[in-house]
Amino acid sequence: MTRQLHLLVLGNPRFGSSWRYPGVVNGPAAVLDSVIETAKTAERGTFDAIFFADTLNYGLEAAWAHKATEDFEPFTTTAALSRETERLGLVVTGSATFQAPYHLARQLISLDHLSGGRAGWNVVTSFAEAAAANFGDNGVLAHDERYRVAEETLDVVRKLWDSWGADTVVEDRPAGVYNDRSKIHVPNHKGEFFTVRGPLGAAPSRQGRPVIFQAGSSPTGRAFAARHAEVIFTGQGDFDRGRAFLEQVHSFGRATPPLVTPSLGFIVGSTEEEAARLEQTVFEQFIPEYQIGWLQEVDIDLTGADLDGPVPLAAFAASTETHQTALAGYRALATQGNPTVREFLFRTVTAFGARVAGSPERVADEIERWFTGRAADGFVLAPSGLPGQLDVFVDHVVPILRRRGLFRHEYAGDTLRAHLGLSRP
Ligand SMILES: Cc1cc2nc3c(=O)[nH]c(=O)nc-3n(C[C@H](O)[C@H](O)[C@H](O)COP(=O)(O)O)c2cc1C
Repeated sequence: MTRQLHLLVLGNPRFGSSWRYPGVVNGPAAVLDSVIETAKTAERGTFDAIFFADTLNYGLEAAWAHKATEDFEPFTTTAALSRETERLGLVVTGSATFQAPYHLARQLISLDHLSGGRAGWNVVTSFAEAAAANFGDNGVLAHDERYRVAEETLDVVRKLWDSWGADTVVEDRPAGVYNDRSKIHVPNHKGEFFTVRGPLGAAPSRQGRPVIFQAGSSPTGRAFAARHAEVIFTGQGDFDRGRAFLEQVHSFGRATPPLVTPSLGFIVGSTEEEAARLEQTVFEQFIPEYQIGWLQEVDIDLTGADLDGPVPLAAFAASTETHQTALAGYRALATQGNPTVREFLFRTVTAFGARVAGSPERVADEIERWFTGRAADGFVLAPSGLPGQLDVFVDHVVPILRRRGLFRHEYAGDTLRAHLGLSRP
C-alpha cells in the first residue's frame, strides 16, 4: 500500500496574539463560529482530524493581559463538532497528570461513540507550574515522575475501556438481560497512584477505542511514546531534526511504528509577495509580552530584554523539569541566524516546530520534502491565526498534494483509525 500523507489542523482558536490580527472577530459566539468553520474546512480538505492542545491553566500572570479568553475546553468543543462534521477525526489533549483516569476513559469513549468512532486522545503530562497550582499546592511533579503517573493512567484507562467486550451486550428483551455478566471485566486496579474498581459501562466504539496520540519528545517522553503512542505529535524545528526523530521512532522495534506528525506553522499567499505581506502583518501585530510570558512556563526568562538586541542565551535554563522538548527546541531557534529578541519571539508564535511561508507551490514543496524525505508521516498544521488561511490551504495546496499523489482525494473510511490506516486494537 502506498504511503499516505496525514494532515491534521490545530483547532485552538485565538491562540497567542491572533485575537488582535486584522479581520478577527472575538467573543464566544464568533469564536464558536470560527472553530466550526475550521472543522468544516478541514473536512472539505479531507483532513484526518482537527487537533486541540490544552494546558489546564490560563498561563503565567505576565501573559494574562495579552491573552484572549475563549479557549474552550476540548472535550466540550469536540462534542459540539461531532454534530457539525461527519468524517473528520476529533483529537483532544487530556492530562495524564491531573485528569482522573475514570473521567478520561469515560469522556473519551463517550466522544468516540458520539462521533461514530472519530476520537483521539493526545496524552500529555502537565508541565506547567500554573497548572499544578489548580490541582493542590504540591507544585509541578518531577518530569520523569509525571511520566510514571501517565503510564499508570493509560493502563487504567485501557482496563476501563476493556470492561466491555465486543460481545458483552446481548440485549435479550424477553429475559430482561442487556449484558452478559460473564463478559463484563472488572478492572479492580490497585496501583502506586490510583485505585480504580470499574467497570466503565461502555461498549467498544465503531473503531474499538480512541486513537492514542502522545506529545513529549524528551528521552523519557520518547520511551513512553515507544510503548504507547499510535501517533506522535512533536515539534522539530528543521528537516534534519525531523528526520533524526522519525528514524529514532522507527528504531523502537515495533511491528507498526507510531506515525509521526510534527507541527507545521504556515502562511500561504497566492504569490510569494502576498505571503511575505501576510507574514509582515503577523510580525507587526504579534505581542512580544505575550510570548515572553509563555516562555517563562518552560524556564526561559526574557523579561526586560532589549527587543532589538541579541538573544541573551543566559535567559535559557540549563535544564528543566517542565517541558524539555520546548526548552531544547527554543534554544535551537535562538541560535539559528542570530535573531534579535523580537525576531526570536516572533518565531515562537508557532512554537518550536517547523514553519513555512510562501505560495501554494512552496508550501506543497516543503510538505513533500519532509514526507518523501522521511522526516514526517504528516503534519499538525498550525494556521497563523489570520482569517481565511485554512481555506486558502484547502483550495490551493491540497489540490497540488493530490496531483502529486501524496494525499487522499476522498475519505476511504469514516473512522479516525481508517483515516490513519490503523487497525482496531
Ligand atoms: C508538540 C508538543 C505539543 C504539546 N502539547 C501539549 C499540550 O497541549 N498540553 C500540555 O499540557 N502539554 C503539551 N506538551 C507537553 C508534553 O505533553 C509533555 O508532557 C511535557 O512537556 C514533558 O515532555 P517532554 O519533556 O518529554 O517534552 C506538548 C509537547 C509537545 C512536544
